[in-house]
Amino acid sequence: MRKVIKYLKPYWLIALLCPLAMILEVSMDLIQPQLMSDIVNFGILGTAPADENLRYVIQTGIYMLIFSLIGCAGGILSAAFGTITAQKLGNDMRKDTFEKVMHLSFQQTDKFTTGSLVTRLTNDITMIQQFVAMSLRMFVRTGMQFIGGIACLLFLNVNFGLVLVISLPIQLIVVTLIMKRAAPLFGIVQDKLDKVNSVVQENVTGARVVKAFTREEYEINRFDDANTALMETNMKVQKLLAILNPLLMVVMNASVMAIILIGGLQVEAKSMEVGSVMAAVTYITQILMSVMMVGMMFQQVSRAMASAKRVKEVLDTDPVISDGSSAQAEITQGRVEFKNVGFYYPGTAGKPVLKDIDLTVEPGQMIAVLGSTGCGKTSLVNLIPRFYDCTQGEVLIDGVNVKDYELDVLRSKIGVVLQKSELFSGTVAENIRWGDNEASDEEVKNAATIAQADTFIQGFNEGYDTMISEKGASLSGGQKQRMSIARAILKKPKILIFDDSTSALDLSTESKLHEALRSSLSGVTVIMIAQRIASVMRADRIAVIDKGTICAFGTHSELMQSSEIYRDIYYSQMKNEGGEQNG
Ligand SMILES: Nc1ncnc2c1ncn2[C@@H]1O[C@H](COP(=O)(O)OP(=O)(O)OP(=O)(O)O)[C@@H](O)[C@H]1O
Ligand SMILES: [Mg+2]
Repeated sequence: MRKVIKYLKPYWLIALLCPLAMILEVSMDLIQPQLMSDIVNFGILGTAPADENLRYVIQTGIYMLIFSLIGCAGGILSAAFGTITAQKLGNDMRKDTFEKVMHLSFQQTDKFTTGSLVTRLTNDITMIQQFVAMSLRMFVRTGMQFIGGIACLLFLNVNFGLVLVISLPIQLIVVTLIMKRAAPLFGIVQDKLDKVNSVVQENVTGARVVKAFTREEYEINRFDDANTALMETNMKVQKLLAILNPLLMVVMNASVMAIILIGGLQVEAKSMEVGSVMAAVTYITQILMSVMMVGMMFQQVSRAMASAKRVKEVLDTDPVISDGSSAQAEITQGRVEFKNVGFYYPGTAGKPVLKDIDLTVEPGQMIAVLGSTGCGKTSLVNLIPRFYDCTQGEVLIDGVNVKDYELDVLRSKIGVVLQKSELFSGTVAENIRWGDNEASDEEVKNAATIAQADTFIQGFNEGYDTMISEKGASLSGGQKQRMSIARAILKKPKILIFDDSTSALDLSTESKLHEALRSSLSGVTVIMIAQRIASVMRADRIAVIDKGTICAFGTHSELMQSSEIYRDIYYSQMKNEGGEQNG
């Protein structure tokens, strides 16, 4: 709640105008029954001559019309101010939350799940917006209607207080009982909505895989389950709320009858006029309506509370990976050292993925990392740009612990080509310019040439201005890989990391790429993960990883002599190559 108020602050003036305009509207509402009572008492049942009575009726009628117009204007203004405030506040909140999400570390986005983050950014913030718009208007409205109504009613006749003493507590008890049961359900509704969004998210982004495995039925069922769970919880809430209003209506109608009864007796006894009884009926309706409104508001409040808690969770998450303390530290050479490094993923109960890693890569060297699938290669290189932090030992660049660099400085000097190429919708040139926004056309073309991408890009109808569809779906796997490489090269990094980034290239294209890297990027440290011996043979050194440790390190010829694992991989791959050629 405090968070919401903080976001309200910049708009306090508009936020304040909203209840002020509302006061105008409610005051007019409170005057109306009094005027009507006057029309009846003096205009219709009055003892004055007929034409004078008529004049009184018309005159008071005109007042009523003017007052109701003023009230109407107040209502419109109040709604407008309320909406403006809520929209601005929601906009700010969404912006901040999105910024936060962008700065979260991998392990934190893993924890929230994508679907949940999407719900929090959209639906939850909308709930908060609705709540703000409503409370700015309704708190004042119900408060004034309630207190003003009671004052007017008792002013008409103190005996009417008796009806209030009985009906108000009953209403309050009903509202509290039902709201107590409904409130916890609102949080659950949002969680179920997360699940629905997660399934949609996964299936929309993974539509091709779902089709390839003809898993549509299965996924549709999974969606049905999540969707049904959402509906069932929503139904529970709605059932409770459905009981609320009719119950309150019963209390209200009974109260109106009581007022008419008491009023009738008073009129009989000549101690009260008929018009006043009519006004009293309107007032009691207004009072009890305001209690009903409180019920509705409770519903909105608990709903918004649940949502606010979820948004706050995101806003209050401090990225576990944040800037280091050495503001001056710069990467000038690109020496990478792993010293006794160990690592386990958060939430895996300390099961190590990497252990006892000692490795030094000299500036300008090209190091290859080879190993079976799942042995920890990606995990190893993820420690360099701090996608995750090592849990033991230290990773140093140019002799400085990576944790001491400012994140921007660190990551701006490291070019990473991820195992899975991610491209964004936009032109070819725009995608490559992700590496450096300011780069000239010449530089973009140059980076693409080194990455062996220039030729196929020229082959497109519109060359570098060709539009790429979402996630690069319009490109082949090898084209995507080369685009991602060009993007990383354009960054002019000191350290380049290729995570299995040439797996989709044929051997001759790959060797051209290696040559181009050697000649154009001398001085840049390259760490290249690969599965194929042919891809790693040309590297200065090769690190062979097995079950999270480096089991062999050296040049191709050294390893052929010293490492059995390396020899095994070599011969099995060469045999296959030979076999294919023979066949
Ligand atoms: N985000 C994660 N959370 C928990 N465990 C993970 C995570 N990412 C990877 N792992 C586990 O860590 C181990 C090493 O994974 P890693 O991705 O480093 O393998 P890899 O050598 O890159 O494999 P591949 O050649 O298939 O890409 C695997 O057992 C994997 O299950
Ligand atoms: Mg990997």
